[in-house]
Order: sequence, then structure tokens, then C-alpha cells
Amino acid sequence: MMQKLEDLQKEFSSALKEVSDSSALANLKADFLGKKGKLNGILKSLKDAAPDVKKSLGMKSNELKEFILSEINRKSTQLEMEEINARLKKNWQDISLRASIQDKGLQAAGYHPVSIIQREIEDIFTSMGFEILDGPHIEDDYHNFEALNIPDTHPARDMQDTFWFQDMKHLLRTHTSCIQVRGMESRRPPFKFVGPGKVFRCEATDASHEAAFHQLEGMMVGKNISVANLIYFMKTLLSEIFRKEVNVRLRPGFFPFVEPGFELDIECLICGGKGCSVCKQSGWVELLPCGMVHPNVLKYGNVDTEEYNGFAFGLGLDRLVMMRYGIDDIRHLHSGNLAFVSRFKSF
Ligand code: FA5
Repeated sequence: MMQKLEDLQKEFSSALKEVSDSSALANLKADFLGKKGKLNGILKSLKDAAPDVKKSLGMKSNELKEFILSEINRKSTQLEMEEINARLKKNWQDISLRASIQDKGLQAAGYHPVSIIQREIEDIFTSMGFEILDGPHIEDDYHNFEALNIPDTHPARDMQDTFWFQDMKHLLRTHTSCIQVRGMESRRPPFKFVGPGKVFRCEATDASHEAAFHQLEGMMVGKNISVANLIYFMKTLLSEIFRKEVNVRLRPGFFPFVEPGFELDIECLICGGKGCSVCKQSGWVELLPCGMVHPNVLKYGNVDTEEYNGFAFGLGLDRLVMMRYGIDDIRHLHSGNLAFVSRFKSF
């Protein structure tokens, strides 16, 4: 009888090795431990055995039962893990699209051209002693308009239609000029800084207009700052970026936060000044509005206007990128097209 129990254990162990799924495991359990199973079959024949034989065989069969149960549990956990892993493998999705990107040979895409130019300009201005500032995309009315000398009822608000939040107090900033206000709030003159970033306007797009684009604000406040200082910095910026002579023109421009205000245009490098869709056939591209900071704006920034003055400018980064690389439509920049970005990987 004892031999029968030992044989049964061996039979169970080799049968367990063949089990490859949970239903076969359930069958195996029933086959060995079920009411009509093999272990019970042996135990039934014990009823006529002598008491001491009964006792030792009873202990052995209990041990065997424990062994079978623990082996079945171990196998059950193992099978469950294998089934989960198989399901995960079958349903795996690479949301990074890495494989499909690599299929197209695009794994070496570079920085976005706007980032490339932004970093270059930051380096140029840092080397001239300017700080780099940042500001929030969601602004309040005060920083975007009021502190820039554009009160609630001023018609200049119409020049920059934007996206308002439901409270009608917050908006997506229409320009980086808010960084001027925030910069003045946190420092005392003299100071000079630039602030790059995304800006948003509710407007129809065309070859040179986007609803979300980039600007780079600049501000310098000190004693006896003049238009000559402003022009010096603008010229340095353009000669460093283009590394060649480019034709520019300065003309009067109205912005409530500067007085006098200027528009600095660059001769269109897409058509060489002949006229195209980017420059709207004019041969010139509006790039760098600027001017001497209006005293009201300095007062909002707690700057003593008897002692200090300054200049500010607001560079259109996307248009500068277009001129530098000969891109004939601003919408390429925001297309998310990796083939487009990969062309800049060597810059
Ligand atoms: C302004 O936003 C002023 N805050 C700039 C300024 C700062 C003036 C400091 C004086 C002193 P403007 O709306 O012209 O100005 O925009 C500045 C530049 O951003 C433009 O010259 C142009 O290069 C770029 N720009 C304007 N609108 C768009 C647009 N929809 N898409 C792409 N670039 C644009």
C-alpha cells in the first residue's frame, strides 16, 4: 500500500510536468484529489487494514495530499503569470511610435528650428549682459494690457484679439511684452533682459501668420538710454543671426507701450524683395517692432522716470526663422512633420 502511495506521487509529479494551461491543471487536481480520484481510490481500500497500518498509511496519504495541493498551487501561480505575460506581449502597443519613426529613418531628427534660433539669440544677449526671463502663457488683463498702457477701453486692444477664459479676467497672452511688466516688478534699475516664449492670437492663418507663434521680448532700462542704443542692439542681433548684410528699414510704428515706436522690417529673404506670399508682395517682412519705453509703463513698474528710461523690442521668432532658413510658409513650423524637423539636425 505504501508503495502504491509512492507510485502515485511519482505519477502525479510527471503528469504535472505535462500541464500547460489552467483547465488541464483543474482536470489533474480532480483526477488525483477528487471524490472519485486516485488518492481516494487508495484510501477506500484502507478500511479493512489493521489499526497501526491504517495510522501510518493515513499519515502518508495526508502528506501526499498536502504535497499535491501545494504543487497545484505553485503551478497555478506559474500558469497565471505565463498567461498574463502572453496577453501583455500580444496586446503590446508602443505609444512612442519609436518603431514606425525608425522605419522611416527619422530617429536622428534635430531640435526644432525655433528652438535653435531661440537658443542662439539667448546666447547673443547673454554675452551682452542680458538676463533670460520667462513668463506664464496664461496671463491676466493687468500684465497683458493694463500695465502696458492699454486700458480697458483702448482701441489698441483690437490689434491683438485673443482667447479669453470664462472669468473674462485671464487670457492666453498675446505677446511677450507681459514679461516686461513681470521683469520690472522683480528688479530695480539698471537692468536688461530678454524673454522668449509662445504667444497666442485669435487670427486666421496664412503664409506669415499663425494663431500660436513665438516672440522674444527685450528690455533695457538705465540712465540716458537712447534710440542709438536701441539700434545698436538690433543691428548686433541681426548681424549675428544672419552673418551677412541684410537690408532693414526703420519706420514709425504705433504701440501704446513705447514712445516713439518703430517697426523694424527686413527685406524679404524668400523672394529677395521682389514680392511673394510671405511678404504679401511688399518685399518687406515685419520682424522687430521696438521703441523707447513709455513713461506710463515705467511708472507701472515702479521705475523713477526722472532718473531712468529705456527701450524695448518684440521680435517675431517664427518669421526670423523663416528668413534665416528660407522657409516659405510659417505653417511648416507647426506642422509636427518630423521629415521637416529632421532637415535641421545638422544645425
Ligand atoms: C507686438 O506684439 C508688440 N508687443 C511688440 C513690441 C514689443 C513693440 C516691445 C514695441 C516694444 P506685433 O503685434 O507687431 O507687436 O508682433 C510682433 C512681431 O511678432 C511681428 O513683427 C511679427 O514678426 C510677429 N507676429 C505678429 N503676429 C504674428 C502672427 N500671427 N504669426 C506669426 N508672427 C507674428
